[in-house]
Amino acid sequence: MSTIDNAFDAETLRVLGHRLVDRLADHLRDSRENLEMPVLPWAEPDVSIANWPGDFPAGPDPDPAAFDALLGRVIDGSTHLHHPRFVGHQVTSPLPTAALAEFAGAMLNNGMAIYEMGPVATAMERAVIRWMCDRIGYGNEAGGLLTSGGSVGNLTALLAARQSHAGFDAWTGGASAGPPLAVLSSDQTHYCVQRAVQIMGWGSDGVVAVPVDERFRMRPELLEDAFGRAEGLGRRVVAVVASAASTSTGAYDPLDRVADFCERRGLWLHVDGAHGAAAAISPKYGQLVDGIERADSVVWDAHKMLLMPALVTAVLFRDGARSYESFAQQASYLFEGRDPSEEWFNGATRTLECTKRMMSLELYSTLAVHGTDMFSEYVTGTYDLARSFASLIAASHDFELAVEPDANIVCFRFVGDGLVEDTDLDALQDRLRSRVNASGRFYFVRTALPKGVFLRVTVINPATTGDDLALLLDAIREAAE
Ligand SMILES: Cc1ncc(COP(=O)(O)O)c(C=O)c1O
Repeated sequence: MSTIDNAFDAETLRVLGHRLVDRLADHLRDSRENLEMPVLPWAEPDVSIANWPGDFPAGPDPDPAAFDALLGRVIDGSTHLHHPRFVGHQVTSPLPTAALAEFAGAMLNNGMAIYEMGPVATAMERAVIRWMCDRIGYGNEAGGLLTSGGSVGNLTALLAARQSHAGFDAWTGGASAGPPLAVLSSDQTHYCVQRAVQIMGWGSDGVVAVPVDERFRMRPELLEDAFGRAEGLGRRVVAVVASAASTSTGAYDPLDRVADFCERRGLWLHVDGAHGAAAAISPKYGQLVDGIERADSVVWDAHKMLLMPALVTAVLFRDGARSYESFAQQASYLFEGRDPSEEWFNGATRTLECTKRMMSLELYSTLAVHGTDMFSEYVTGTYDLARSFASLIAASHDFELAVEPDANIVCFRFVGDGLVEDTDLDALQDRLRSRVNASGRFYFVRTALPKGVFLRVTVINPATTGDDLALLLDAIREAAE
């Protein structure tokens, strides 16, 4: 057999696949049960590079054992998101069934740009988009698409907002074919919105800040003022971007009141619900997104609060026809000059991607296999746990809670008991975080708030318990000593 035939040998796939699944099953069990296992097996970047040299052989004998050993090292050296003490960034602990679906998708490799290159995944995408539209209260005319991440999703939605509300054809004529444009949003908005605006050529003044209240929620009564400031700068405001929830503290902007303003001013309302649109599926926390159904577009990351492996992002439009305006361009060799809106099933008319992973497969199959209740219980459970963790912090004399959490993100800092007066609290938080994370016992992150540096926990792993979080506080106390 030639080398390439060997590489495609079905029996080798069978053997290696079984071995890999065994390894991953052991890893999943150990991550969840063996709390001695480090969450993050820390290695300095230079050490990591040295462990993974790029001197690839020209023609090795096929060696399944070498591949197996390599994957073992990959698993050992990676950050363990199934570990209950992973409480860091908003990247979830993926469902095993979703990971298996992704493996199947990788093997089938249907590229999705046009229907023939992904008939099943295209149908599944339509079904999950419909399910998500229903959850946020959109009507029958709603629609949308899946894309590769919240950053791309926000850009996709804002491109549609521009095409719809700029008053000139910026897609064809470019950003300078009309007056400079702007969106209004709070300074708590994820940086990808600023980036999207700058990609669109509106410059750094293309985002005009709306102040937030003491809970980091946009103050809708100040939207009019921000609108006036934008106009004073010669900008035409096309949209307001509201966060549901914000990245740093998980604050939900008051969507209904923002929607009132947008209606009054004739602006597009985009809700960045990458993290927190999932509250819509929780009977207990659904009211956090009241008004989301009035948004023109919503971004919702399934790799955050729907337990999917990265990346699976939905961009939803209240009027599904708008989704064709983001990329108002046809690649004639793909679409043969036809109106793309008549061909919803040719996905690339509406996505930045041409070829796209079969990401709908993961979401569809897990919803079908596990049912929807599990997802809503997961969201409710993580939001509940964040609230009880916040209460524990508030009751601890040596910690300060930054703000009562809206979502499953909790920010706090160690203020000690009798710390000397001129202690640099910011530097202290960073040192404590580095020390605890380096120990491997936990992984958590930090954020900068007006008061200073705060430690930041996202309760995103369904295996995390109140005991784990109480032990995190103890670990920080120990590090402080
Ligand atoms: C509110 C919000 N929007 C957008 C993003 C970006 O999403 P992604 O990392 O999928 O590009 C994030 C990521 O944390 C986020 O929290």
